[in-house]
Amino acid sequence: MAIYIDSAEPEEVREALSLGFVKGVTTNPLLIARTGRKPEEVVAAISELWPDELLYQPFSLELERAREELERMRTIAGAILVPKIPATWEGFKLLVDLVRADWRCALTAVYSPSQALLAKEAGASYVIPYVNRATRQGIDGLELVAQISRTLQGSGVQVIAASLKSAEEALAAVASGAQHITVPWPVLRAMAEHPLSLEAVEEFARAAQSYKEGR
Ligand code: G3P
Repeated sequence: MAIYIDSAEPEEVREALSLGFVKGVTTNPLLIARTGRKPEEVVAAISELWPDELLYQPFSLELERAREELERMRTIAGAILVPKIPATWEGFKLLVDLVRADWRCALTAVYSPSQALLAKEAGASYVIPYVNRATRQGIDGLELVAQISRTLQGSGVQVIAASLKSAEEALAAVASGAQHITVPWPVLRAMAEHPLSLEAVEEFARAAQSYKEGR
């Protein structure tokens, strides 16, 4: 199992990777646009932090332009760059093209097991279902993860659950069969902390203080 941070903010990525068990980074055009920086700058800043993998979604989906964009990003990031291709008709063409050229690829924005099945046939290494977005659209996101996991069982194609909005949802995605999860910064923090843990720590700190004062 691997945990990825879903972010294009280098400072968040740095802090997450410093934990040691966050292995990779996922980005998308929306996250990059929010930084106000060029994609090349974001990719350079993140790759300097040495994640095991940087899953990068091209801004262009037109075959030639997307290939050119991905080649440019690979020049910056090197072998850690894994193209993340949206599950559309054009996306599948791009995926096949990249796989033939020996890229390891992810199929993203996946909302149905049939898309996952085609991703397997196309040679994808990862399938990325959008759990919370699916649930918000009336598709049970966790059931989607379970169906996709069953569809891909034994194939070697791995599921990275994305669009996870709480620690509970992240945990449930793993329980539903996802091998990996990608979580935004607030969810990573929420997975690490609990209000009662913090309350206990404050209680210990107060006890330590009064112990020191009483000596
Ligand atoms: O990387 C995928 C992810 O960012 C999509 O999820 O719902 O957080 O935008 P959401």
